[in-house]
Amino acid sequence: MNQVKYLGYASLLILFFAFAALIFEKISSTESRSAKPMTVDFLQPNAKPVTINSEGKKIFQNNCQTCHALDKTITGPALRGVENRGPWTDRKNLMMWIKNPATTINKFQYTKDLVEQFGGQIMPSFSHLTDKQIENIFDYITNSPVQGSMAIAVN
Ligand code: HEC
Repeated sequence: MNQVKYLGYASLLILFFAFAALIFEKISSTESRSAKPMTVDFLQPNAKPVTINSEGKKIFQNNCQTCHALDKTITGPALRGVENRGPWTDRKNLMMWIKNPATTINKFQYTKDLVEQFGGQIMPSFSHLTDKQIENIFDYITNSPVQGSMAIAVN
């Protein structure tokens, strides 16, 4: 008679654990379902490898980095996306600015406002840089991957 009793307890115990396991499963799977999917750039089929203009990077580091960063305003504005702003959508204007900021200021309301925003300090001119060197700088700025992104850099 006792044996039957123990068998009964044992099966109750087994049932209890099976039920607990089921609930646990349910909770953990809902958790993982609600977690945001992680985006990993380079696993996406449309991710393009980024070409870093290493020549431009070098010129930028030697001439501009003391005052400019890509993502942080320091002495001068953060330069990421600069080619989408104000008169800089036209590279000719950028060339003019880099070679001689002082004479470019008065050509655009944008630059007047910008200089004022930076306390009237005018950026030094880089008249010794060639058009090609300036092109390289802005190719570098415009195409460099955001820090921490998983875009693949070639070159
Ligand atoms: C001594 C500091 C300094 C250096 C060096 C410097 N800049 Fe600047 N730059 C500034 C300041 C300050 C401004 C904001 C406008 C002003 O006040 O003249 C500016 C503005 C700019 C702008 C316009 C930004 C915008 O948001 O519209 C560009 C583009 C730029 N600089 C590019 C460069 C490049 C490229 C170099 C290197 C060849 C360089 N700068 C070197 C200080 C500097």
